[in-house]
Amino acid sequence: MKLTRTADLWWKTAVVYCLDVETFRDGDGDGCGDFRGLTQKIDYLDRLGVTCIWLMPFYPSPDRDDGYDITDFYGVDPRLGTLGDFVEFVRTARDRGMRVIADLVVNHTSDRHPWFQDARSGRDSRHRDWYVWADEPPPDGPKGVVFPDKEDSLWQYDEHTGQYYLHRFYKHQPDLNVANPEVRDEIARIMGFWMELGLSGFRVDAVPFMLETDGQADASRLPDPHDYLADLRAFLSRRNGEAVLLGEVNLPYADTMAFYGGEQGDELTMCFDFVGMQKMYLALARRVARPLAEALRERPAPPKDGHWATFVRNHDELTLDRLSDAEREEVFQAFGPEENMQLYGRGLRRRLPPMLDGDPKRLKMVYSLLFSLPGTPVLFYGEEIGMGEDLRAEGRLAVRTPMQWRPGPGAGFSDADPSRFPGQVVEGRYGPDRVSAAAQRRDPGSLLSWIGMLTRRYRENPELAWGDLDILDTGTDQVLAHRCSREGGTVVALHNFSQDPVEARLTLDELDSSWLLTDLLVDGTTEVASDGTAVVRLDGYGCRWLRPVPRDQALPD
Ligand code: GLC
Repeated sequence: MKLTRTADLWWKTAVVYCLDVETFRDGDGDGCGDFRGLTQKIDYLDRLGVTCIWLMPFYPSPDRDDGYDITDFYGVDPRLGTLGDFVEFVRTARDRGMRVIADLVVNHTSDRHPWFQDARSGRDSRHRDWYVWADEPPPDGPKGVVFPDKEDSLWQYDEHTGQYYLHRFYKHQPDLNVANPEVRDEIARIMGFWMELGLSGFRVDAVPFMLETDGQADASRLPDPHDYLADLRAFLSRRNGEAVLLGEVNLPYADTMAFYGGEQGDELTMCFDFVGMQKMYLALARRVARPLAEALRERPAPPKDGHWATFVRNHDELTLDRLSDAEREEVFQAFGPEENMQLYGRGLRRRLPPMLDGDPKRLKMVYSLLFSLPGTPVLFYGEEIGMGEDLRAEGRLAVRTPMQWRPGPGAGFSDADPSRFPGQVVEGRYGPDRVSAAAQRRDPGSLLSWIGMLTRRYRENPELAWGDLDILDTGTDQVLAHRCSREGGTVVALHNFSQDPVEARLTLDELDSSWLLTDLLVDGTTEVASDGTAVVRLDGYGCRWLRPVPRDQALPD
């Protein structure tokens, strides 16, 4: 594999780490996380193997949707620091070879944004057309409220100007009108601004909603939204050839492909694999690999330089909206049977370890899967140490609790009185006295050590990221066996979804008994028979990564 190409397309072997500055680390002792605190923790992220930090929104905000309701796209929330602190952080990250991307939330603004304040001041105001207005909610308009517990309509009547405005999310988040060329210019200006300050791209929030023009007065005359996304990508690439757009597109695979720009591949660089993620939970609930294997067989390869982004958990509810009602119910029953664990009827507000009853083998298996499947792995802060959720917190905030750095009441997140924290620290079995980065750092058997090893092995074996994927038949339903091959190199990974030990039979046609399968995660080798078959033993919830090597070179690098 050409090294220059691997380095140019850095996102294909990246390890992305998503965090909220507010809950990560308090550097000035006021109880709120901030850029200074985050900067102190960069070496922790570097040691873990993170190569790209994704910052959740850090812009000024009334914080009614945890920062996804923005009042100034060009600033830093004063509670988190200053632009100066931001630049110091980016500079420090880059010094460690890490890139930084940030949430680009331009489907909507906060209703307190000066643009919206102006827009609602009168029908002929300067920014009126920056938002989407209608005399009556149009019958052919977009459907489906995103927050069914709080909203029952996508249109909110504005008394003062006598029209309705569109809001896909909360009513305090009016949708921007991206069909308006002025809005488009402004979005490019926002991107240009942060790129100039050192960002390497964006995680683009709610992409399908942002591009949607249904229900607008003259929707059919509007320019094709995909042309707009391609324009944004072209703009980004002109400013910085290595910058990426990582898009939130939660749609079936066939529809998602359009957001890569189809065959052209000139829109999003990466899309999250929401389907694969949901099928993985179904497979875990059933203790059978098949649902995930089927999804992976169906999953199209992204065009050109595109790549999937894979994840186990993100910052929102763990959405199960791509499963059938019966399948979703199975996952609810297995991992979140109580009403308080569920959200919006479609997802779970839990983190993985409590869902798996803290079973360390099963947890390690899931992360091994994350790092071995093709796609850029994206971690959500705290996953690496197995943090749990706080069901006392409202809605999605259950999984956005302060990072647990060390034992003690403030969890090393802050020295201030915990009553000043942005949210309560988790208590009990998953609290900082039992789950913390400091303790796990000293324990070679910890989840933190395991994930550190996985990041290294994943980067050392680029076939996993670059190779062609084959799902192998092993004769057992419990095991997912997949192989990634490229330019003569092959890695085979096996994951046992059941609690019972199994023997999986592999057939690797090109091999014979002059080969051995060498383990990449632990010491060990497996014999290959003269017809290319190999019997691989897996413990309950076991996982193995194997590389075929000629018998006389049995120790890989
Ligand atoms: C995305 C974000 C979510 C946010 C919403 C509105 O779905 O992931 O956290 O609430 O957009 O911006």
